[in-house]
Amino acid sequence: MTLRSALTAAALAAGLATAAHAQQPPLKIGLMLPATGTYAALGDAIEKGFRLYVDEQGGKLGGRSLQYFKVDDESDPSKATDNVNKLIKRDQVDVIVGTVHSGVALAMARAAKQSGTLLIVPNAGADAITGAGCAPNIFRSSFSNWQPGYSTGVVAAQKGYKRAMTITWNYAAGTETVKGFAEAFEKGGGKVVKDLLLPFPNVEFQALLTEIAAQKPDVVFAFFAGGGAVKFVKDYAAAGLRKTVPLMGSGFLTDGTLQAQGEAAQGLITTLHYGDDLNTPRNNAFRNHYAVAYKANPDVYAVQGYDAAQMLGAGLAAVKGDMNRRDALYAAIAKARIDSPRGAFTLSPQHNPTQDFYLREVKGEYNVVTGVAVKALPDPGRGCTM
Ligand code: BEZ
Repeated sequence: MTLRSALTAAALAAGLATAAHAQQPPLKIGLMLPATGTYAALGDAIEKGFRLYVDEQGGKLGGRSLQYFKVDDESDPSKATDNVNKLIKRDQVDVIVGTVHSGVALAMARAAKQSGTLLIVPNAGADAITGAGCAPNIFRSSFSNWQPGYSTGVVAAQKGYKRAMTITWNYAAGTETVKGFAEAFEKGGGKVVKDLLLPFPNVEFQALLTEIAAQKPDVVFAFFAGGGAVKFVKDYAAAGLRKTVPLMGSGFLTDGTLQAQGEAAQGLITTLHYGDDLNTPRNNAFRNHYAVAYKANPDVYAVQGYDAAQMLGAGLAAVKGDMNRRDALYAAIAKARIDSPRGAFTLSPQHNPTQDFYLREVKGEYNVVTGVAVKALPDPGRGCTM
C-alpha cells in the first residue's frame, strides 16, 4: 500500500468512527421521583436541577443527547420494585436517577444491583445505599441519613444541651438521622432521653407535642421534610413550644418550606450541606440560572439534582458517551471532583459525598449560613464490601 492510500484508508476509518459517534442514539434517562404526596415538591426541584445542568451543557452529556422516561413513585415503598422495573425492563433505560424517599430508594438500589443499571440517587439518604448495599454502579449526589443527623448532634452538644428528645417518621430516613444525632450528641456529653415516632407520612403531631411539653427536655431534634415539615414546624410553634423547648433539626426541616412556614420557622437552627446565601461565584451563578429558568428559588433538592447530572456528565465525558465502557465510566464518576453550588465535593470510596455541613439559621425566606458545623464530613460507609 502506498503512503497516500494508507493515509486515505486511515482518514476513512477515522471518518467512519466519528460518524458512528455522531450517530449514537439519545441516552435514556429514567427519572423515578415523587410527583404526588408529601415529597412532590422535592421531586420537582430535583428534576429541575438535573435539567438545568443538562441545558447549560447544550442539552448533551458526553456528546449524547438525552431522552427522559418518567415514573411517579408516590414515595410508596410497596410500589417501588414494580415502578423501577418499568424503567429497567419496559423502557430499558441506560441510567436511573431517583429518588427522594429512603424506603423507595432501597428497593431501587436492589433492582439496580441485580440488573447492573447505573443508579444515581439525588436525595434519599438510606445509609445502606452507600453502606451494606453499596455497589460499583450505585452513586449518590446527596448525603447519607447519618451525616446531617451527626452534624446537628455535634452542634447541639456544643450548645451545652444535656437532655434531648427526638421526633420523626418511623422509616429509614427518620430513624437513621436520629441515630446519627444521638451518636454525636452523646459523644459530646448529652443524652437522648426519648425517641418519638409516627408512621410516614402521618402529620397528627398533637399527642407527641403534649408529651414534649410534659417532659421539658433541653432540646428537641426533628427530622421531617416537605409537606410534613411545614405542618410540624407550624404545630410546634402553635403549641407554644418555641418559647420553652428549643427545636433543632437536620436542614430538611426548613429547606424548600419557608414560604409556607412563615413566622413559625423564624430563627430555627439546622445543619445541612447547603445554605441559600453561600456567597460563591458558583452558587450565585447557579441561583441566577435557576431563577431565570424556573422563576423560583432553588433549594437543596435542586442542588442535588443538578449535581446528579454533573456526576453523570463527568462519567460520560471520560468514555465519550459510550455506556458500554462501564468500568471506565464508574471509575470516572468515583474520582470526579464535583464543582457543586454547595461547594466542591468528592465521593467516598462507597460513592457518597464527603462534604461540609453548614450551620444555618432561618431569616425570612432563607436558610442563612452562620458557620460550618462539621468540615468535610465523610459517611462511615459501614458494611460496604465493594
Ligand atoms: C429520605 O427519605 O431519605 C429523605 C426524604 C426527604 C428528605 C431527606 C431524606
